[in-house]
Amino acid sequence: MKTIRKSFPETGLEASALHKEMQMTKSKDAAWREGKVFGYIYYKDDEAAKVAEEAYRLFCCENSLNPSLFVSLKRFETETVQMMTDLLHGGPDAAGILTSGGTESIIMAMKTARDKARNDHSEIKYPEVVSPESVHPAFDKAAHYLDIKLIHTPVMDDKRADINAIRKAITSNTILLVGSAPCFPHGVIDPIAEIGQLALQYKIPFHVDACMGGMILPFAEELGYPIPGFDFRVPGVTSISADIHKYGYSPKGASVVIYATHELRKYQFFVYTDWSGGLYGSPAILGSRCGGPIAAAWATLVFHGRDGYLRMTREVMETSKKLQERINAIPSLRVVSNPDTCIFAVTSDNIDIFEVGDELTAGGWHLDRIQFPNALHVTLSYHNIKKADEFILALKNAVAKVSVEKTKSRSTHFAVSFVKGLSKMLPETWFKKLSSAATKMMGNKDGKGQGMKAAMYGITAAIENRGNVHDLVLDALDGMY
Ligand SMILES: Cc1ncc(COP(=O)(O)O)c(C=O)c1O
Repeated sequence: MKTIRKSFPETGLEASALHKEMQMTKSKDAAWREGKVFGYIYYKDDEAAKVAEEAYRLFCCENSLNPSLFVSLKRFETETVQMMTDLLHGGPDAAGILTSGGTESIIMAMKTARDKARNDHSEIKYPEVVSPESVHPAFDKAAHYLDIKLIHTPVMDDKRADINAIRKAITSNTILLVGSAPCFPHGVIDPIAEIGQLALQYKIPFHVDACMGGMILPFAEELGYPIPGFDFRVPGVTSISADIHKYGYSPKGASVVIYATHELRKYQFFVYTDWSGGLYGSPAILGSRCGGPIAAAWATLVFHGRDGYLRMTREVMETSKKLQERINAIPSLRVVSNPDTCIFAVTSDNIDIFEVGDELTAGGWHLDRIQFPNALHVTLSYHNIKKADEFILALKNAVAKVSVEKTKSRSTHFAVSFVKGLSKMLPETWFKKLSSAATKMMGNKDGKGQGMKAAMYGITAAIENRGNVHDLVLDALDGMY
């Protein structure tokens, strides 16, 4: 089946043909099992995957919308939240909810803060949340959905939040402070204890985004790594988001948002009592919810247990430290800042790091491209460990190739500075039209234009008018879906 289906199928397709078609389509996906894709996938081994898959399959049709009908799911959900609350040292009054992922947990934490402020401070008409600029865009998305103003404060040279900037950004409209443990781009933990002190001083709730770290940091701490306080033991912390579908190694669709008190959690709930369909109460964003991710998250936590997570964390953290040392020893490359975990970024001061990324891509590796500074992003998970030596070799080869291939480098730099210049000179509408055409040319839609990737990322990072980049990304999204 080569053509894309555009109309509704007139007749059903027999199961084996259907599976064949799906397998064929899947064969074009990234071959992540080889361990060369960083991020997106968190995978221990086939045995653990089988446990999760079986749990998922068993509850694939069940709907946790009505917990009294599906008491099993109610039990799995409650126990999963309890286990996570225990891990993150929630007190006796702590209460949480299982969500579909980090983004939902974050949107819920922001809604809770907004509704608490509406209740306690009706004088606040334009609520503001103060967060370091390194927080995940899920906070920007939440602010966008909830009509909250998100104030981004600068980070220090080491990429951790600047506590003085946070203090200065607090106003009488501030309803929430945010810190990451760790942040996605550079894997560093914000000064959670200091932000907690500000939260207490100004009597403002404080959310810690431990979506990435929630299932790494507790075990790393137990293993003796110098992990600064980030959980409910830190005075001032009122809520935490932590993803089970990342370093908890469960299938996608599982995160928790936990509050210091039941009272606080109530602000998250939605209740509507005047519907002809009956009384309606819903704990988070989703209405109907597949039982699969809930059952699989529970099964994964119980299957691995503390000792299993300690073993995985030890291996991932040790490999991460070794990788960072070996990368810092490669001339031209350096790890950004001093990451606290197994998430880090690799940059260069003298070669185009995005071209290094292109070379790696050609060899079947995938690393996200990030900006400010331009860097390649490594989220090291268990299935990548076996490829650590091969990765260093590939990285060295890519650096060597980029260092000698001056022509390609020159054309990339020319493209970047040309577009940068255009964005300053051309009227905005012209630039938008041009950039939209350029996106189509360089985009990934048909796999063509791969060689232009370094230029494309370089261009988007270099354009000073971020509104133009915004439009570029909108066009790219429109084309993709
Ligand atoms: C620090 C952090 N917070 C939140 C999220 C959002 O999580 P999700 O993709 O599960 O919605 C991510 C995702 O990478 C993250 O790194």
